[in-house]
Amino acid sequence: MENIKQTKVKKLLVSQAIGSMVNAKGWVRTKRGNKSVAFVALNDGSIIHNIQIVIDVVNFDEEILKLITTGSCISVNGVLVKSQGQGQSVEIQAKEIELYGTADPETYPLQKKGHSLEFLREIAHLRPRTNTFGAVLRIRHAMAFAIHKYFNDHGFYYLHAPIITGSDAEGAGEMFKVTTLDAKYPPIKVDGSVDYEEDFFGKPTNLTVSGQLEAELGALALSLVYTFGPTFRAENSNTARHLAEFWMIEPEMAFYDITNNMDLAEDSLKYFINYALENCIDDLEFLNKMYDNGLIERLKSIVNNTFERLTYTEAVSILENSKHKFEFPVKWGIDLQSEHERYLVENHFKKPVILTDYPKAIKAFYMKQNDDGKTVRAMDVLFPQIGEVIGGSQREENYEKLNSRIKELKINEKDLWWYLETRKFGTAPHSGFGLGFERLILFVTGMGNIRDVIPFPRTPKNAEF
Ligand code: 4AD
Ligand code: MG
Repeated sequence: MENIKQTKVKKLLVSQAIGSMVNAKGWVRTKRGNKSVAFVALNDGSIIHNIQIVIDVVNFDEEILKLITTGSCISVNGVLVKSQGQGQSVEIQAKEIELYGTADPETYPLQKKGHSLEFLREIAHLRPRTNTFGAVLRIRHAMAFAIHKYFNDHGFYYLHAPIITGSDAEGAGEMFKVTTLDAKYPPIKVDGSVDYEEDFFGKPTNLTVSGQLEAELGALALSLVYTFGPTFRAENSNTARHLAEFWMIEPEMAFYDITNNMDLAEDSLKYFINYALENCIDDLEFLNKMYDNGLIERLKSIVNNTFERLTYTEAVSILENSKHKFEFPVKWGIDLQSEHERYLVENHFKKPVILTDYPKAIKAFYMKQNDDGKTVRAMDVLFPQIGEVIGGSQREENYEKLNSRIKELKINEKDLWWYLETRKFGTAPHSGFGLGFERLILFVTGMGNIRDVIPFPRTPKNAEF
């Protein structure tokens, strides 16, 4: 076959080079036609749309054509022509075809369209070949890019927090242990406990639940930093919003108070969502049509609305005074459930909400204590459909207050000596937050289950792929 440089389908579909020889490579979505002409819809993942390949059957080996079935992979040389048919502007009149890989119609799992999302989770190795997952994965990429762009454009430095950590003091959730010790015969100390001095790091280690503590170290030197990496929580929460392995974006800013923190959260979320509207509209239109016909309107409404800001205490009284029946009753002091959060956002305010000043008992040790002695300067950003998309706070920068809170909560301060030193040496007011990347992608794609917005979800009893 003649060697012609490949052009991606995305480019071919808007190409002006009518009449020229081109090469396209990709996977066959469908083949139809009759004895004399075959039409192949070819997709290479560069865009949701396919390019149509027109094959004059007489010019090709019948045995090869038979093997060009849904799921097979081919390379096509041909002439780019204006399309006669509906639905596409250009197509390729095939001259030469090379068959890279067949896909036996008897066994190829994606032979037919319209599989359930549950079934597709069982074939996570093949689901990127579907329109839905192509769209989700392209949007996921675009959002990751937009996040780096936003923070870079605003003077933030990307800080790589460690994935393996020696401290378990963040308290954000159950941790996965990291060890090279033999699970069956670990070294035992005289007192009967496991001797972690023999372990790889000479001490117990875990997968991180958050990069925040390290981000704080960065912010107290570089002023504006953000992390963007995988985080791990070993909770057995089998919900449509929780993963055991998820990605988190954690900006941390010296000299920011809680209001600056809220402003950054609101501005960046609007930027990300607007970026999707401006750069992923083909994929969004597909998802809007197939899954959720309110999606694009909802995204626009986020960009165009000011987020409602109120305190936890105010929110609790709105919930208490509502006539709504909640599964979990509301009273001051409880950790709000997703039904409460969604009521505030979807029924009461009908726009995103930022709640602040939560009871200190339900929030982490590092949050700045308010003068009332009861609440801390926390903030959660709540979105329609999703509930909590961001959790953050102003940090306690006062050494004595922080230390006494650590003691109160019986956290092992020896694990945190390095963290506490930032409050001893040149402490500064500072704030930050954590944005759950998959929660953002859930919102932007309108998908209903967090397992469907990450290529290979890690959930309880599920790490096959
Ligand atoms: O509210 P969280 O636990 O906050 C922290 O970890 C802080 N250290 C963040 C900070 O201030 N730098 O988690 C932050 C966000 C949540 O709002 C949610 O969007 C997401 O991370 N998240 C999860 N996403 C998927 N699966 C899970 N199990 C998640 N747990 C939290
Ligand atoms: Mg939270």
